[in-house]
Amino acid sequence: MRRTKTILGALLFAVCLMFTGCGCPQESACQANKFKASVDYKIVDGVIVLDEPQRAPGQKSMIEFRANPLETVRVGFVGLGMRGPGAVQRFTHIEGVAINGLCDKYAERAEGCQAFLEKAGMPKAKVYSGDEGYKQLCESDDIDLVYIATSWQMHVPVALYAMEHGKHVAIEVPSANTVEECWQLVDAAERNQVHCMILENCCYDHYELTTLNMAQQGVFGEIIHAEGAYIHNLEPYWKHYADNWRLEYNAANNGDVYATHGVGPNCQAMNIHRGDKLDYLVAMSTKSVNGTKIVREQMGEKADTCMHGDQINTLIRTAKGYTIDMQHNVMTPRPYSRMYQLVGTEGFANKYPTAGYTFKLDQLKSIATEETGAPNIEALDHHSFAPASVVAEMTEKYKHPVQKQLVNGQPLQQYSLSVGGHGGMDFIMDYRLVYCLRNGLPLDMDVYDTAEWSAMGELTRISIENGSKPVKVPDFTRGDWNKVKELKFYFAD
Ligand SMILES: NC(=O)c1ccc[n+]([C@@H]2O[C@H](COP(=O)([O-])OP(=O)(O)OC[C@H]3O[C@@H](n4cnc5c(N)ncnc54)[C@H](O)[C@@H]3O)[C@@H](O)[C@H]2O)c1
Repeated sequence: MRRTKTILGALLFAVCLMFTGCGCPQESACQANKFKASVDYKIVDGVIVLDEPQRAPGQKSMIEFRANPLETVRVGFVGLGMRGPGAVQRFTHIEGVAINGLCDKYAERAEGCQAFLEKAGMPKAKVYSGDEGYKQLCESDDIDLVYIATSWQMHVPVALYAMEHGKHVAIEVPSANTVEECWQLVDAAERNQVHCMILENCCYDHYELTTLNMAQQGVFGEIIHAEGAYIHNLEPYWKHYADNWRLEYNAANNGDVYATHGVGPNCQAMNIHRGDKLDYLVAMSTKSVNGTKIVREQMGEKADTCMHGDQINTLIRTAKGYTIDMQHNVMTPRPYSRMYQLVGTEGFANKYPTAGYTFKLDQLKSIATEETGAPNIEALDHHSFAPASVVAEMTEKYKHPVQKQLVNGQPLQQYSLSVGGHGGMDFIMDYRLVYCLRNGLPLDMDVYDTAEWSAMGELTRISIENGSKPVKVPDFTRGDWNKVKELKFYFAD
């Protein structure tokens, strides 16, 4: 009897191996391994752990990577739909830039951007088009930087081709869709020793920048928790994405597929891979109600269901024991919000729906009764934001050095307002990218930020599809996350 059981057990194990292709070292592994992930994985003590490939010989870490300074940054833009043309226009306002390539699948979109160059008195750029026109742009000798604002599905193919041809790349958000794609970006940057920067513009919002500086100066004490989100009802936009790429992506994929606006600024404030690292996450999704309705209306016979839940909620824990709370909702009517909240032992910052700061000392003072100095137990409403005068003073005092950087005799913050792009933050991002490339400095956001923030899409999907099981966040730095102790923005002098 015992022998029969052993044989049966061995048979079951072999069948499990055949179907999962995985060692299943822990409990319920066979059951959990029904899901698909872009890389192999194991279940260790109940946590889903994706395999992390070793660094191949010849690849070098990109931590604090500096490329040779470029006197003129020669740019080629790929993807000129709703987002891309604004970048072309902004680059015409940056000194030391030559716009040499304009590429879109649809030639007229690329051609249309020549007007920005003409207006700025710049020479016409070469136009590339078709599904693979980007390849010629990447092969061209007169391009240093490929700026990618295509559909998500094309981000990585274009970026990899560009990096293999020795170009630096800057990629819209999210820069990659799967963990496998994130590793491909890391490996290509390390192998070719070129920059790969995520175009996470929200890191350059004036509120976020000032708050980051306050955080780095210790104003909030120890930051124990942060919140971030992308809450934006996309109903008016769905029909306008080229070839319906965005709705098709959402129809086919659950998870926080657009996490970087929320997680990026939080990771910066928490020094992720500069002394701390994202350890693991759990995610949960609602059912798809509006998503399914929109998919049925817009995609007709092509799709009947929407995999993407209307609201996605994620909790991340860091190696040092702090937490990040994220939300994603592009399906229901809500006011736009990136949440952006920092909870510190000495203070609090909150951007949405009401921007404000709270400082511990103010709270303690405001709650004391005038007569005795003892706490007034009725004074709960005093636990609120610091008065406007205090906020104004603090905001001025803690302006980030990037906001104060001089451009054409004006502080970058002020100058950015005249160029625009989401209230100026897009321009600050582009300006900093060019500035660092021209001065041979490490970029504000490196390839590991690009991978960590973009990986949220697939990692949250995996957790959701497994009953909100914890999923380990891969260490894309391959052990280097503790080498630098704080996020740094570099300046030439
Ligand atoms: N950071 C932000 O605030 C922000 C805002 C909007 C959009 N985005 C990002 O910008 C990107 C583009 O979004 P969008 O709203 O402009 O979408 P879009 O559909 O309007 O534009 C995408 C463009 O890419 C082009 N394209 C597709 N395949 C191509 C190929 N093989 N070669 C060349 N061009 C190709 C399409 O023709 C289209 O013109 C997305 O990644 C999106 O997430 C970021």
